[in-house]
Amino acid sequence: MQREIQSTHAEACRNAATLIAESARESIAQRGEFSIALAGGSTPKNVYALLADKTIFPDIDWPKWRVFFTDERCVPSDDVESNYRMVSEMLLSKVGICPNCVHRMEVELTSVPAADMYAQAMHNHFGADGRFDFILLGMGGDGHTASLFPSTEALDENDAWCFGNEVPQLDTERVTLTFPAINAARRVMFLVTGASKADTLARVFNDERNVSELPAQGVCPTDGELIWVLDEAVAAGIG
Ligand code: 6PG
Repeated sequence: MQREIQSTHAEACRNAATLIAESARESIAQRGEFSIALAGGSTPKNVYALLADKTIFPDIDWPKWRVFFTDERCVPSDDVESNYRMVSEMLLSKVGICPNCVHRMEVELTSVPAADMYAQAMHNHFGADGRFDFILLGMGGDGHTASLFPSTEALDENDAWCFGNEVPQLDTERVTLTFPAINAARRVMFLVTGASKADTLARVFNDERNVSELPAQGVCPTDGELIWVLDEAVAAGIG
């Protein structure tokens, strides 16, 4: 497991964007495309803005990108809470990715059918034994990642790549990639910043494995790389 600690959130985002751009170049050179699942929330917004900035990353081969999402809130795609809306505004609307290369979770359905459809869409793309080139994850203050929340059913899904379930602590439904999908990836990157998550990150790194309580501990790629991109504030407790 690789740790990269930058002094500020901005520098951590710049490092994350650079690592993603480098991974894309490698994947496209080796396999002709770059399949990535993007996180929602607020932390990665700067990463998406940097990637979309042609003065910083002029050579990204966008038409070879295949974009998926790590999770989605069950809201309309134009809702301010929608991860799809955030990624579209910050990135997809600014770069030349063909629309049918962007795979949105169709959460207008209820979460279970939406998850089944998304699992099928991934299967159609990757086939029986394919895998993501890259998965970008965040981490919440409760140790959740994607929409794998403490004590939810999705944590126990050992086969399907996508799961829809109630998240009682948020009184809502969520659709999320599962550990089988995440841990099959070639490269998984957590981008976590801010002092408010320092205690949780220390628990994820130092406490005995308890995925039900700290779902981020369930991310351990089977045959892939795990990279933590952090800022000093969040890394204060991991030594
Ligand atoms: C989401 C994300 C989620 C996010 C964490 C951290 O839908 O919210 O995919 O897993 O990464 O909640 O969110 P922040 O980056 O906003 O702290």
